[in-house]
Amino acid sequence: MTRGAEASVRVTELAALGEDELRARVVSGLLPRHVAIIMDGNGRWATRRGLPRVAGHREGVQAVRRTVRAAGTLGLKFVTLYAFSSENWQRPSAEVSTLMWLLESSVDRELPELMAQNVRFRVIGRTGGVPRGVRRGMQKVVESTARNTGLTLVVAFNYGARDELVDACRALGRAVQAGTLRPDDIDESRVARVLYTHGLPDPDLLIRTGGEMRISNFLLWQIAYAELWVTPTMWPDFVPRDLYLGLAEFQQRNRRFGKV
Ligand code: FPP
Repeated sequence: MTRGAEASVRVTELAALGEDELRARVVSGLLPRHVAIIMDGNGRWATRRGLPRVAGHREGVQAVRRTVRAAGTLGLKFVTLYAFSSENWQRPSAEVSTLMWLLESSVDRELPELMAQNVRFRVIGRTGGVPRGVRRGMQKVVESTARNTGLTLVVAFNYGARDELVDACRALGRAVQAGTLRPDDIDESRVARVLYTHGLPDPDLLIRTGGEMRISNFLLWQIAYAELWVTPTMWPDFVPRDLYLGLAEFQQRNRRFGKV
């Protein structure tokens, strides 16, 4: 059997395992440093149950809590969640305001739990463009958790990867104009330093729930070499077993980074 065929047999075997068995299969020494998650499927989850779409977002908050707890317990160092994209403003205004309220109230309510779990909280995106109450609430949690040393939980909020690249170009352009940077000195590490994600390692694994095979303007620069794992599970149904399965499958991948 070829190496690829053996890997696909192992992946099929993994899918048949229960939560505890999968948890045991995740090798702690081979964890991805950074897992990024596109939490998709909230609306479909709700619609299938005859509920308003916002009921899916509310249930999605519970999936966030479960996932953060499981990730921290496993020893993951960085998790980034795509909570609100720059395109999400185009949704009906009632859905947008519910999402804003959910984000504001959840971060505030979860602060004691984040402290107890030693989680450091960070936000990426054009935070200047969000309602003041939400921005202040998030800033409070960022400051309160700044000295925690466990999992870093990054929430992408009013985030768009193209916006991020535009902002990075502007920052570099300003430095060139001010005479502090020569265009020929711009290299990958210089670009990385002006992205919202400065200081974070690139994601090794990108998880998308809800089954769609697309990137949706998420971390375009940073996922250059990430492994992609798409599950049909809708985000409100995402449980630790799904995370363990994604991690165990990731650990079966042969990452080549363009080499042979
Ligand atoms: C995508 O589902 C999900 C979102 C746009 C919002 C995700 C936000 C949360 C889960 C809220 C809580 C987050 C934190 C960090 C506390 P969709 O509505 O696009 O689903 P669909 O594809 O089925 O329509």
